[in-house]
Amino acid sequence: MSHTETALKERIKELTCLYEVSSIIVNADIAEVKDTLTAIAYSVKKAFQFPKYTEIAIQTPDTTFKTGIINEKLGLTASITIFNKPEGKIIASLTDKSTFLREEQQLLDNVALKIGNLLERIEINNKEASLKRQMERADRLSIIGEITAGIAHELNTPLANILGFAELLKDEFKNQENASKDVDKIIHNAIFSREVVKKLMFFACEMPQEMKRVNIVPTIKEAISLLDATFRKEQVKYVVRIQEEEMWLKADQIQLTQIIFNLIINAIYFSPKNGLVTIKAYQSPTESVLSIQDEGPGISEEALDKIFQPFYSTKPTGDGSGLGLSVVHGIVLSHKGTIKAENNIDKGATFTVRLPKS
Ligand SMILES: Nc1ncnc2c1ncn2[C@@H]1O[C@H](COP(=O)(O)OP(=O)(O)OP(=O)(O)O)[C@@H](O)[C@H]1O
Ligand SMILES: [Mg+2]
Repeated sequence: MSHTETALKERIKELTCLYEVSSIIVNADIAEVKDTLTAIAYSVKKAFQFPKYTEIAIQTPDTTFKTGIINEKLGLTASITIFNKPEGKIIASLTDKSTFLREEQQLLDNVALKIGNLLERIEINNKEASLKRQMERADRLSIIGEITAGIAHELNTPLANILGFAELLKDEFKNQENASKDVDKIIHNAIFSREVVKKLMFFACEMPQEMKRVNIVPTIKEAISLLDATFRKEQVKYVVRIQEEEMWLKADQIQLTQIIFNLIINAIYFSPKNGLVTIKAYQSPTESVLSIQDEGPGISEEALDKIFQPFYSTKPTGDGSGLGLSVVHGIVLSHKGTIKAENNIDKGATFTVRLPKS
């Protein structure tokens, strides 16, 4: 074969490869990136002058795929950029000493560009999906919030009446032991119900607030020290990582304590014996962040959507009302902050609260 003929043949192979890569990408299943990258790698391998001796590797932030053993030093490399940042590369390496053609670098550059575009598309897609989920959740919670606020409001007055009249009756029955005990039960239950209503109103942001500029570090530390006994009783270990001495924020101190209490009590409840709870507080110029991490079972995908709804609880009946996190959610919202629950890579869950400084 003449030199021109060989060159032409190579050129055709490369163009075919580019075409193939384009169609792989067009038909790519966004959920199966690894398959797509595998197909691309083999297509590129075929396009090189000596496919038998050429191995291709594709590295991205999430996966790496190799068609064989790669010697990066003796290879050609093209960088894969995602939103203008280098996030990976594609490498072609030869297993014998023959050298590469100039066009082969161009081919690699072109393929890298296409992979970058694909990964950008995937990232945009994922962001959109997560935003949609968040909006749906916020929507649902706000509807539940409104209903809850209404119910709590309606129950407040009759409950106050029940309590008031029961107190009066208690006086009347002073000398009748049995009746007096029964009235005590009524009072006790009414107080319990009033607490539930109070929590519901917290969730619905209907509680009066006292917003002040405070240094939240002492508040956080104090809340933790109040829970020290609970930690010991439940045999759960904890570490506190707060580097700052001062974190100033406009907040309601009692409500802030509520956030810490509820999150830590959950973490303790779901911790195994000797499990570790890590409590962190840190700040950036714009926000203060509090995170509580545990080594419990974590939260199922399905539950992640529901845990902030009032009355959602996986605790056995009698153990929890399912209001803790809804209260926390309400308070965080009223401070214009955000709360996120996620599972840790190895085990357990992390709750992260972000409160803006202004
Ligand atoms: N740290 C955690 N690890 C695993 N699951 C959790 C954790 N925190 C909360 N959950 C899940 O979220 C649910 C709701 O929590 P929430 O605090 O609102 O209610 P609860 O703890 O069940 O009851 P209450 O707080 O009223 O006593 C829990 O029942 C549990 O399923
Ligand atoms: Mg709870």
